[in-house]
Amino acid sequence: MKILVTGGTGYIGSHTVVELQNYGYEVVIVDNLSNSYPEVVDNIAKITGKKPAFEKFDLTEYGKTKTFFEKHPDVEAMIHFAAYKAVGESVANPLKYYDNNLRSLINLLSCMKDHRAHALVFSSSCTVYGQPEQLPVSEDSPIQKAWSPYGNTKQISEEIIHDSINAHEGINGIALRYFNPIGAHDSALIGEYPIGVPDNLVPYITQTAIGKREALRVFGNDYDTPDGTPIRDYIHVVDLAKAHVIAVDRFIKEKNKKRFEVFNLGTGRGNTVLEVVNAFERVSGEKLNYKIVDRRQGDVEKVWADTSFANKELGWKAERDLDDMMRTAWQWEKALAEKENKQ
Ligand code: UFG
Repeated sequence: MKILVTGGTGYIGSHTVVELQNYGYEVVIVDNLSNSYPEVVDNIAKITGKKPAFEKFDLTEYGKTKTFFEKHPDVEAMIHFAAYKAVGESVANPLKYYDNNLRSLINLLSCMKDHRAHALVFSSSCTVYGQPEQLPVSEDSPIQKAWSPYGNTKQISEEIIHDSINAHEGINGIALRYFNPIGAHDSALIGEYPIGVPDNLVPYITQTAIGKREALRVFGNDYDTPDGTPIRDYIHVVDLAKAHVIAVDRFIKEKNKKRFEVFNLGTGRGNTVLEVVNAFERVSGEKLNYKIVDRRQGDVEKVWADTSFANKELGWKAERDLDDMMRTAWQWEKALAEKENKQ
């Protein structure tokens, strides 16, 4: 059974390809490598013993996307990760985000209408909830006006998928709303590889500890939380990847069921920034250099997931704890440094 994974050389994409292959699915990756590296394909093969097929092209090009589906008429389902994801950049350059993130999705959906691939798993984000009034936040919580163009592309994409499923027979979709994915594969062969200065907390922590950055800036300690720093629901990327396999399986098992479903993927627990820093220091044995600075614009105070719907409907539950997330993130950072030193 062949599954298309767009953005399959990226952070969450590569971990998902590994889990799909381990489960027995045949995978073909499409990626334009705008934010990832071709070696990821070889590293996936080292983990699973099987090299996934890989095609490098840009999904915003309709002709190339159509040709791909003609060449692979046996693609049964697809997982669509490929998208730009830097919040700050999206504010500075909104058209780049709307053009890339929406056009690639529209091209995929257009091709789905005409080909056998009937099922789409979409990478969405808890950003759609903004600062929820009630915590934990369930899938029924109201969607709030997006603060960034990046967040808006996630909201609009969910609507585009929903409307397409309503209008066209044979298309089905599941949107997975990720909370904060961190950590890396136990092999330390794949992980998060931010190009340039990281925006996200954990790569910033590990890059600081390895000596690439001087100090972590903790954005604000005057929030209404136990230690004053914001709370997020951090989830191990491998737990997240496994949920995608279950989502694909759901389509395959009930092929003729029309559906558009939305699931929260988190652990159901929240941690402050300083708790994450403490966990890092605990598992790595390193002292982290950090300083408290002003709040970052657009950050919400606290958010964590109600995961009961995913637990019940998908039979899925995140299993790995914060220490495990930080341990694997650190192993990955050290493996990268070792590789860079050799070069
Ligand atoms: N943080 C710092 N210092 C840093 C980076 C982050 O203190 O250098 C803090 C942030 O203020 C926040 C927490 O660490 O409290 C997590 O920040 P991340 O940037 O790692 O993650 P966010 O929760 O801000 O971002 C996530 C997703 C985005 C999504 C966004 C929407 O990674 O894709 O939620 O709010 F758009």
